[in-house]
Amino acid sequence: MPDNSSRRATSAATLSVWGGEEDSLMQGATQVPVVYSAAFGYPDVDSWLEVALGRRPGHIYSRNTNPTVQAFETKVRLLEDAQAATSFASGMAAISNTLFTLLSPGDRVVSVKDTYGGTNKLFLEFLPRFGIQSDLLDTSDHDEIEAAIARGCKVVYLESPTNPTLKVMDISRLAAAGRRAGAVVVADNTFATPINQNPLALGADLVIHSATKFLGGHADALGGVVCGDPELVGRIYHYREITGATLDPMAAFLLIRGMKTLHLRVERQNESALGVARWLQGHPAVAAVFYPGLETHPHHEIARRQMRGYGGVLSFMLEGGFEAVKRVLPKLRLARRAANLGSVETVAGPPATTSHVECSAAEREAMGIPEGLIRYSVGIENAEELIADLAQALERE
Ligand SMILES: Cc1ncc(COP(=O)(O)O)c(C=O)c1O
Repeated sequence: MPDNSSRRATSAATLSVWGGEEDSLMQGATQVPVVYSAAFGYPDVDSWLEVALGRRPGHIYSRNTNPTVQAFETKVRLLEDAQAATSFASGMAAISNTLFTLLSPGDRVVSVKDTYGGTNKLFLEFLPRFGIQSDLLDTSDHDEIEAAIARGCKVVYLESPTNPTLKVMDISRLAAAGRRAGAVVVADNTFATPINQNPLALGADLVIHSATKFLGGHADALGGVVCGDPELVGRIYHYREITGATLDPMAAFLLIRGMKTLHLRVERQNESALGVARWLQGHPAVAAVFYPGLETHPHHEIARRQMRGYGGVLSFMLEGGFEAVKRVLPKLRLARRAANLGSVETVAGPPATTSHVECSAAEREAMGIPEGLIRYSVGIENAEELIADLAQALERE
């Protein structure tokens, strides 16, 4: 929730380690404790009331706020240099609570065809049931997106880079269009992380993360977070405190612990992903490589302007299509075949079983996601060993 401490001149490296922890340490603990208490008691009604009315810091009930969860929110908030943050049980809870807070029957949201599969389902399956129209445009056509925004909308929903084809959206340009239209601009920053990109600084009103991915970084806890404008975050917090998609304190603890190495992991993943992408580009079994750090990527110039690093996720398309995907994936020794990304270990999978498992093959095709695609989330292993592993897996393709 809103508070006055700001990132100011402190680096992301230092904030990853120290940010948000001081207020929740107790009895000399040097690490944020896991506070497993459903409710918080007060000896007298006056002090209870002061906390309940928000006039004094404190907690009432863990569905609303909790010390461990609050430390996690503050750490992300500082890294995104935001004035307010609130957290959720998962990234999808963060996204759905945000959209349901901001949108009402008759409203229109402008987004793109290839947002994360779950987000796409919200646009196409759930929001229409409440009379909310979603206009999903071609991610590469900024003129078309800008024109759709100018026709009037309540929310502009951005995700950059996108999952799994790593398209890049010009956040400054589309946020400015959203502002002109009086819309709230929301950006999913899961793939970039606050180490590589800060959408609020580029003009977005709200930034969302699936903390399950790079923030936590160890594939052991689910979580989501929304940071940004205090009035908007306050409304989203209120919706979540009533609907109850609260982050668990143990998950918050694991995410905090993971975030202490966020900057180190992401810097390493940026570097290794670029190396792997360059190597894959030269392989005869690979039809295309999608990574915004490659000079050949159609949105490389936008990425270079708005990102400090290009992230740990890339995808590549095999010449042999889905049959080749089924042959190659089991041969990888240094990759978990799983529906996750952003972890310390390399994770690989096709969109059909990962980001777009919710969609049919026809829907994936309509979203421009080839069936021969492998999403490859680079871990913190030795990059040369990852390349050697890919080489042996692709050998007979
Ligand atoms: C870009 C993006 N946003 C949101 C989500 C949803 O996050 P969660 O799985 O934590 O609900 C994902 C999950 O893969 C994602 O890749």
